[in-house]
Amino acid sequence: MKTVVTVLGTRPEIIKLSPLIPLLRDRFRHILVHSGQHYSFEMDAVFFAELGLPAPDYTLAVGSASHGEQTARMLSRLEPILLATRPDMVLVQGDTNTAMAGGLCAAKLNIPVAHLESGGRSFNRQMPEELNRIILDHIATLLLAADETAERNLLAEGLPPERIRMVGSSVIDAVERNRQHARRSTILQRLEVTAGDYLVLTLHRSENTTPDVLPGMIRALGELAEEHTIVFLLHPRTAAAMRTCGIEMPRSIRVSEPLGYLDTLRLVEQARALLTDSGGLQEEAGALGTPALILRNETEWRYLVDAGRHVLIGNTCESILAGARQWLQPEALARLRAAPAPIRSGASERAVAAMIDVLESVI
Ligand code: UD1
Repeated sequence: MKTVVTVLGTRPEIIKLSPLIPLLRDRFRHILVHSGQHYSFEMDAVFFAELGLPAPDYTLAVGSASHGEQTARMLSRLEPILLATRPDMVLVQGDTNTAMAGGLCAAKLNIPVAHLESGGRSFNRQMPEELNRIILDHIATLLLAADETAERNLLAEGLPPERIRMVGSSVIDAVERNRQHARRSTILQRLEVTAGDYLVLTLHRSENTTPDVLPGMIRALGELAEEHTIVFLLHPRTAAAMRTCGIEMPRSIRVSEPLGYLDTLRLVEQARALLTDSGGLQEEAGALGTPALILRNETEWRYLVDAGRHVLIGNTCESILAGARQWLQPEALARLRAAPAPIRSGASERAVAAMIDVLESVI
């Protein structure tokens, strides 16, 4: 039986790989490695419990650090595990430091790498995630792309078409599997909000949490919260950046700790709209039928913007206020909601089938 090692370590990777893990365990000797990039209960363990995932076989316990330090710890701690377990393929997902380090470590040992969510590009090299994606796609053997745009991006960078498989996005599978279960969540009662009558806010991207950008964003969101109920799911990076920049949380904003997966699905499903700079949540909102106003100037998940379901409103005080006031008008929101979103399930099965294909033809 072939051996596959999956390396993960952050909240979005746990969610997006969750529908693949049972399929991998059925078909391969499967070894799960957790980098420890995320370690707080609400950023990590809660998802393993809710998504019914097996405990990791190995934990690298790298914790938080600068990019160089964190990546170095991952490389040096993962290498002996890959040497000992001798996998036929290493699977990583997305654009985090964990994914990049997992892929790089494997590629240097001549172990084929499968990259899920390959080909996403923001064309903004200031983002650490953009660099991670580019590196990963150029060292991976199997490029599992989510959509045509991702496939085009890979071809434009000269990557060979035979390495690319367009499989779709596994976020959709995770939402479909858990949506029903999430209806039992009591999060609306716990936060004392009424279905359809509040906005959910998340904000954590490194380019949005700088001293140049964050104060203006919080000012705009505080002002908007005078007009709408806003529930802010506060990421630890953003909480730390607000402390560093000396920004007070506006009293109009309702703040919550990061939530578990099922509570998040329920809260987003029942929201009037989502304000976010997250990638995973854009797709989750798309699958749940909730429009998203994206707090960025570009997105790697273009298909929902192109379909007219989500809109980009930028990350300055002025652009957020203007965009939100325009798109939160009832008629504008109704148009976003009515846009037919091209949501396709089954990416997880297609991705695992592509891995089987490659493993059977390579070895
Ligand atoms: C990482 C990913 C980002 C992804 C995000 C999801 C990279 C380069 N970025 O960003 O693409 O969207 O995960 O959350 O890999 N912290 C905690 N507890 C934790 C983890 C982090 O308190 O469990 C705090 C620490 O202060 C840490 C900061 O959050 O320094 C940032 O964490 P880090 O993992 O470096 O990056 P994220 O912002 O989470």
